[in-house]
Amino acid sequence: MSMIETEETNRFTFEAFAAHPFYTEINRSLVRQALTSLAARPANATLTVVDMACGTGAVTRLIAQEMQRQHKQVRIIGVDPSAEALRRAQKGMEIIGAKAEFIQGEASDLPRIVQNADAAFFCNAIHLLPDKLAAFRLMASILAPDGVFACNSGFYDGTYVEGTERFYRLWTSRAVRWLRKEHPEVRLSREAKAMAMQWLNSKEYVSQLKQAGFAHVQAHQETGIVSVDAWCDIGHYWLFIEGALPGVPLSLGAAALEVAVYEAGREMGVTETPRNWLQLIASKK
Ligand SMILES: C[S@@+](CC[C@H](N)C(=O)[O-])C[C@H]1O[C@@H](n2cnc3c(N)ncnc32)[C@H](O)[C@@H]1O
Repeated sequence: MSMIETEETNRFTFEAFAAHPFYTEINRSLVRQALTSLAARPANATLTVVDMACGTGAVTRLIAQEMQRQHKQVRIIGVDPSAEALRRAQKGMEIIGAKAEFIQGEASDLPRIVQNADAAFFCNAIHLLPDKLAAFRLMASILAPDGVFACNSGFYDGTYVEGTERFYRLWTSRAVRWLRKEHPEVRLSREAKAMAMQWLNSKEYVSQLKQAGFAHVQAHQETGIVSVDAWCDIGHYWLFIEGALPGVPLSLGAAALEVAVYEAGREMGVTETPRNWLQLIASKK
């Protein structure tokens, strides 16, 4: 997967999808469950919380709100490879009157950025990484011994609620059909596709976290009700387009996914689909 930003990728951000209420609910639930372990810390301590792959800051804002609710002083560090996403995250924090340091980088940069963190998040991005074990080891290495790590994904083996697979198959096949008809010159690349589809199941995630040094790992699923409009919005996010229609120019990919998602919804007579999210919370001792 390429993480090269251009003016083109900057037009196709994650923000619209991340603004849907169901998405906030799922992430808030994870943030609260992970940060309850910090509630007992002394009120005068300054806690350090890392938001890895913070993107446009949906989870960073939830962390700030939860720490405020607990009356905690906190240093929040958001890290992401995308400079454009970080600019939007910074604006979003200003709007809610909260503070975070945003740093451009990948998981491998973390040890140079922060040590002994009290909590670290890696939300809605782990499925993008080919080597999850290496990422989990890095997260373990920057946490204090009593620190907590939380991670979630809506792209794993188990994410499809029974009876909804057909909707996703239709969505993709209608998008490809639209491209063939309207833009026959466009070619999909097959190799990239195989990469994007390596989804782990819940057990495999738990086992990789344990291998990375987390002694305790809790995994559970939460179900979000995702409207067809929300699917349309994620179809306008450049990393999603690259995964769904590899090799297709972003503007054509977004157009194809938009036409196709409403076609799929109409054909199945649905305006929303339930979708499972895997929520993982881990600690070293
Ligand atoms: C779908 S967004 C999730 C943003 C936010 N954490 C949330 O939960 O709403 C995925 C993010 O992962 C980032 N990303 C992509 N590849 C990455 C990598 N190799 N290491 C860390 N982050 C990566 C992208 O830049 C993007 O901001």
